[in-house]
Amino acid sequence: MAASKSGTDTAKSPSTPGSAKPAKERRDDKDRVLIFDTTLRDGEQSPGAAMTLEDKLKVAALLDEMGVDIIEAGFPISSNGDFEAVTEIAKIVKNATVCGLARAGAADIDRAGEAVKHAKRPRIHSFLSTSPVHMKYKLQMEPHQVLEAVTFSVSRARKWTDDVEWSPEDATRTERDFLFRCCEAAIKAGATTINIPDTVGYTVPEEYYQLIYDLRTKIPGGDKIVWSTHCHNDLGMAVANSLAGVRAGARQIECTINGLGERAGNAALEEVVMAINTRNDVLPYWNKVDATKFVRASKLVAAVSAFPVQYNKAIVGRNAFSHESGIHQDGMLKHHETYEIMEPESVGLSKSTLSLGKLSGRAAFRDKLKALGYELGDNAFQDAFRRFKDLADKKKLVFDEDIEALVDQEVASQTDRIKVVALTVIAGTGGPQKATITLEIDGRHETREASGDGPVDAVFKAIKAIVPHEARLPLYQVMAVTEGTDAQAEVMVRLEEGDNTVTGRGADTDTMVASARAYVSALNKLLMRRERGPSAQRMAS
Ligand code: KIV
Ligand code: ZN
Repeated sequence: MAASKSGTDTAKSPSTPGSAKPAKERRDDKDRVLIFDTTLRDGEQSPGAAMTLEDKLKVAALLDEMGVDIIEAGFPISSNGDFEAVTEIAKIVKNATVCGLARAGAADIDRAGEAVKHAKRPRIHSFLSTSPVHMKYKLQMEPHQVLEAVTFSVSRARKWTDDVEWSPEDATRTERDFLFRCCEAAIKAGATTINIPDTVGYTVPEEYYQLIYDLRTKIPGGDKIVWSTHCHNDLGMAVANSLAGVRAGARQIECTINGLGERAGNAALEEVVMAINTRNDVLPYWNKVDATKFVRASKLVAAVSAFPVQYNKAIVGRNAFSHESGIHQDGMLKHHETYEIMEPESVGLSKSTLSLGKLSGRAAFRDKLKALGYELGDNAFQDAFRRFKDLADKKKLVFDEDIEALVDQEVASQTDRIKVVALTVIAGTGGPQKATITLEIDGRHETREASGDGPVDAVFKAIKAIVPHEARLPLYQVMAVTEGTDAQAEVMVRLEEGDNTVTGRGADTDTMVASARAYVSALNKLLMRRERGPSAQRMAS
């Protein structure tokens, strides 16, 4: 697919949603932007965002259903767990290309080739740093050695598949001449996509536009391959930079659901797609992604990664479509376009805000889940319904946020080896506070008692007595899910053990139970990380 040669800025007057031409009317191949999702690779590299194999399969299946073009499923050489995840995802994905990441060495490339070979459309994505600072300190390689490694890695990858992507890591801080020579070498060796990572989120739209435009138009063969954007969000410009790259002729955007990713994250998939769909008058491109699945995908990724979505996050944040102030509400009642540039339904958000009570049955609960963007399997549904009934016994009205907290926890804990069975806490001014907890570990129950400096300390000490570990607790945070004294508490816990950082979430009307659940959820992830061996994060950059 060759990109348009023009690459010049279009300056038109802004239009309302009603006047923007629907993307479908202009389905010209040269304007199609491929959506490359790297939630399962770059997203999972965020400290604490470890996902289980089951989680990854669920996310991959939803991305495929959503119409994402390429799914980067992992970094096969980084661990046996990643290799298995890429292999299994390659087997289940029906339409999307499945991609595995590799450094430049033969072992990396072959491991990625082995993992993606089961896919209908396999891709190997090889990368190597090209900036002076990375070559000197990280690689300890001379430029000529890097150039040779580019040719070697791409040629080796081409032995496994015709679909080979190459990335000059830290491209935006690379000397232009050298970057051009590396990209040219990769094209000559057979790369079909060249991705230009803004690895440290350093570039600005004008600069990135010019870089992509020059690469695409000046390198021999540059018009025959797909150019791709990969922007990190350190300065909050990942989406703007990605779109500037597309205007310069890039036809693939690398992005993640919820913008998940290292440090400040990657360009958010839902944001780049909705920018193109909503401002199609000035961004006249199209893609095959079904935006009505965004809310569902956002919730799934937030639940399995234990990375909550900020309330005011564009497109999928809880407040993205809510109007609080009187003036705005009045305007909205008169006409929704007064304050709304997108319709909530276009991203999969239901208008319904009806809450449920203890008399609500399975059908009402199922409807509510659907409206909130969840689809649970039978067992998970039954468990969630049972927990909803327990909650409705304690709270008069169960709000949408309560159900979201409950289901997120259900989704996140389905494969947990350790579960909270019972907890009793003695707290108050008298001290010392005491906790007695029963945990289920691989089906067997264990009970311990501990006292501590406050009830939370006592609960965590009792858990530690059953599951000994040396992890540090850098974060313990409590938030109320809704208003009122009977609101559920949502607790977030972060544990750090060596290079492994994991996050757990728990919700309950009892803050101590929520705390125990969050701590145990983080411990489950820590166990999984220990089994997986060295983290992908350390190897990728
Ligand atoms: O940000 C980056 O440079 C990357 C590469 C591995 C593509 O994620
Ligand atoms: Zn990246």
